[in-house]
Amino acid sequence: MDANNIRQKFLDFQTRKGHKVIQPAPLVLENDPTTLFTGSGMQPLLPYLLGEPHPEGKRLTDSQPSMRLQDIEDVGDPRHTTVFEMLGNWSLGDYFKEEQICNFFEFLTKEVGLDPNKIYVTCFIGNEKYGIPKDTEAAEIWQKVFKDAGIDAKIAEIGSAKEGDKRGIKEGERIFFYDDHENWWSRGGGCETTPIGDPCGPDSEVFYDFGEDKQDVAKYGLAHPASDGARFMEIGNQVFMQYRRLEDGSFKELEKKNVDFGGGLERIAAAAIGSFDVFKISLMKPIIDKLEEISGKKYENNTDEMRVIADHIRGAYLLASQGLVPSNKTQGYAMRRLVRRAILRALDLGISQNFLSEIVPIVANNYKDLPDSILTHRELALDVLLKEEKAFRQTLNKGLKELGKMTRNSKILDGHDLFKLQDTYGFPLELSIEECYREGIELSEKHREEFEESLKEQRERSQTASKGMFKGGLEDHGEQTVKYHTACHLLLAALQNLVDKSICQRGSNITAERVRFDFNLDHKMTEEELKKVEDQVNEWIKADLPVVFDEYEKSYARDTLKAHGQFWDKYPDVLKVYTIGDFDDPISREVCGGPHVEHTGILGHFKIVKEESSSAGVRRIKAVLEA
Ligand code: ALA
Repeated sequence: MDANNIRQKFLDFQTRKGHKVIQPAPLVLENDPTTLFTGSGMQPLLPYLLGEPHPEGKRLTDSQPSMRLQDIEDVGDPRHTTVFEMLGNWSLGDYFKEEQICNFFEFLTKEVGLDPNKIYVTCFIGNEKYGIPKDTEAAEIWQKVFKDAGIDAKIAEIGSAKEGDKRGIKEGERIFFYDDHENWWSRGGGCETTPIGDPCGPDSEVFYDFGEDKQDVAKYGLAHPASDGARFMEIGNQVFMQYRRLEDGSFKELEKKNVDFGGGLERIAAAAIGSFDVFKISLMKPIIDKLEEISGKKYENNTDEMRVIADHIRGAYLLASQGLVPSNKTQGYAMRRLVRRAILRALDLGISQNFLSEIVPIVANNYKDLPDSILTHRELALDVLLKEEKAFRQTLNKGLKELGKMTRNSKILDGHDLFKLQDTYGFPLELSIEECYREGIELSEKHREEFEESLKEQRERSQTASKGMFKGGLEDHGEQTVKYHTACHLLLAALQNLVDKSICQRGSNITAERVRFDFNLDHKMTEEELKKVEDQVNEWIKADLPVVFDEYEKSYARDTLKAHGQFWDKYPDVLKVYTIGDFDDPISREVCGGPHVEHTGILGHFKIVKEESSSAGVRRIKAVLEA
């Protein structure tokens, strides 16, 4: 049974148990600034878990693509991935522990066909400090469920995972009590770190036993479910969401108790084929096969690299197919990082040519069963990723060459060198560090501090420089001049949109009272043109558009982002770009040192007071902002 079958079987099974299949949420949740990406099935359901009625009822189910970037460093082992699908079912104040436990056990053993003898479970031991009782109810339900399957399941009191590593499992034990680091669920982790206001509760996790021989005892200690070793793998977590954390840090019982179940599809699929390595399942194996083919190397000898590449390209594809583009900020940066890390790992395998065109279609095919409602930009994904690959390859070649030069005579690099690589060659700090690590190049002990020092110096320099650059232009950074500066960008965009696409800025002079803006145009502007431009700028001001900036590599800014700039030959390799309006479909995007206002609504009323000739083929507009 492959992963796509298991996903469908789960949804069908839960439908038979009275659940409504809901649409999964996108990875980037618009109204949730607390996390970068959707990391679990419950996240989009937060309001309903806190009591708001859900339009689809009290029993819901879905398969939610999820991303946990916090696990990125663990990718490379047999089970960690940054991106996965979480099979989920929820009871919103409807059924509780017994029905959940019985159903999930039934699904695993009857639908997926797992051997009940290989299933182990954990429950919450309680927390005295917060007055939260031990979950004996769940443990007793489990005992009964196992008994019905002909298994005499004994209970073990473990406490912390560390204790478990020393103690291991005794004869017949199958149900294990752990503390809140293992068996308490909130978006922030254990009791202490549960976010204020969030729903939370004790959980009961389900593990699959891949056999004693999988446990590296020397490395991880004795085997038990919460061990880091490879014998047991968590395949599902049933959260009994019965509390909410209050302002004073205490936990209050919810009026309506919920169940929040989440199980990793990839892991359940791995258990189904008896493989402790999730990279052998149907959603992964074709990618690994292709990597073997391209590199001419065997997976068995290169598990780390191939797992990272497979995982990261899956993640990047999911993001791209949901319409995200790489950038240097937040989610876009995470996406860029995934692509870049994958490309670097491919270099380790000897793949130095562009290769995403061979991998991405495989990933896309693996995900063909996911609904169009979330993979809204499937057709664009390949193109976006190939562009990013190409741009990074260029950066990389330059950066690596430079790093090589720097270490030709001495095998040690300091933070100033690392800064130079980033600042001048667009070769990011973390990649330099990884490269040094790989090549056995020593880093000075204080490289982080040195890097910061250089960064600070550069900031001071660029402040001085930008003062110089706008000499007579932007005289100071007073509030009013900053507003005029943003108005200039809107003015240019309006001129380009309404008068002539090829209009470029030829100069500007800003004071606290007015802006003077020069641009190329072969005729005197008509009254009508002036009026249209003025109205357009005011419309954009009224729309209160966001103004954001980021630093980008020059070629990316010019070719991909299509930023407006006057001096491409003279710009440094990494430059600042200001975007006004929707990032994917901006009103204005210009290379610019800033500063700008954060949103256009505060500019006031824009008024053109004069239009005249400045020199041959260059016109000049004087405009003011009125309160
Ligand atoms: N929300 C629970 C988890 O992420 C099911 O593990």
